[in-house]
Amino acid sequence: MASTWNPNQYNRFQDERSKPFHDLLALVQPIPGGRAIDLGCGTGELTKVMHERVQARATIGLDNSETMLDKSAAFAGRGLTFKLGTILRFAPRTPFDLIFSNAALQWVDDHELLFERLAAGLAAGGQLAVQMPLNHDHASHVVADAVAGEEPFATALKGYVRRVPVETPEWYAEKLDALGFAEMNVRMQVYPQHLGGPEDVVEWVKGAYLTDYQSRMPAELFPAYLARYSERLLAVLADRRPYFYPYKRLLLWGRK
Ligand SMILES: C[S@@+](CC[C@H](N)C(=O)[O-])C[C@H]1O[C@@H](n2cnc3c(N)ncnc32)[C@H](O)[C@@H]1O
Repeated sequence: MASTWNPNQYNRFQDERSKPFHDLLALVQPIPGGRAIDLGCGTGELTKVMHERVQARATIGLDNSETMLDKSAAFAGRGLTFKLGTILRFAPRTPFDLIFSNAALQWVDDHELLFERLAAGLAAGGQLAVQMPLNHDHASHVVADAVAGEEPFATALKGYVRRVPVETPEWYAEKLDALGFAEMNVRMQVYPQHLGGPEDVVEWVKGAYLTDYQSRMPAELFPAYLARYSERLLAVLADRRPYFYPYKRLLLWGRK
């Protein structure tokens, strides 16, 4: 399946999207001389910030999108490298001192299995730090799924409707405990976004959640999907300027 991640579209809300990254990073304790990995690192710009802040000797940024990784060369060096690969096959031979992932694990199914593999990939005393959106019950996401169920999109998508694999905060707390994490900090946080108007919600979602539907339908059909999505979404969002878009996220940190 072609990658539909577009760094320019994704970075249109770069400032708003980097705030949760910094909140996540603030939970991490430095690992001087240690090894870190950033799963779903995107363009690598934030991976570099993480690598320097935690004082790692070596950090790998891993992503399965060539278009996102194309930008990463500018940030490599001083122990930071980037690799094309999928989180689905993450099973390191040498465990990491820090496994970090900002806004990426919501794209990986089966969190029961995923978190077992993440825990197994950590050295003793290693840290896991994960941030994921929890906004799939907002109209911006519910309408995207509803339009996927309409024709002609349903046929083009072969009946596929995205099922977000992200569980509740307490589910992750229980999971970390069961996996033997000695310390944890798990919380849900609402990030207040003041956008120009409700139409900006379309631009926001287009750069992230909608990339999944885009990648699964013929390129020539996506503009029609987007037009129908905008029509249905703008019919239910209040016409306020600026538009207040509350964005819920899960921040999770644990030490083994
Ligand atoms: C929303 S972006 C976040 C990028 C970066 N972590 C940041 O905070 O700016 C999600 C990233 O996850 C990557 N991704 C999604 N599924 C993946 C998988 N199975 N394996 C590796 N990367 C994946 C996408 O290519 C994309 O670059």
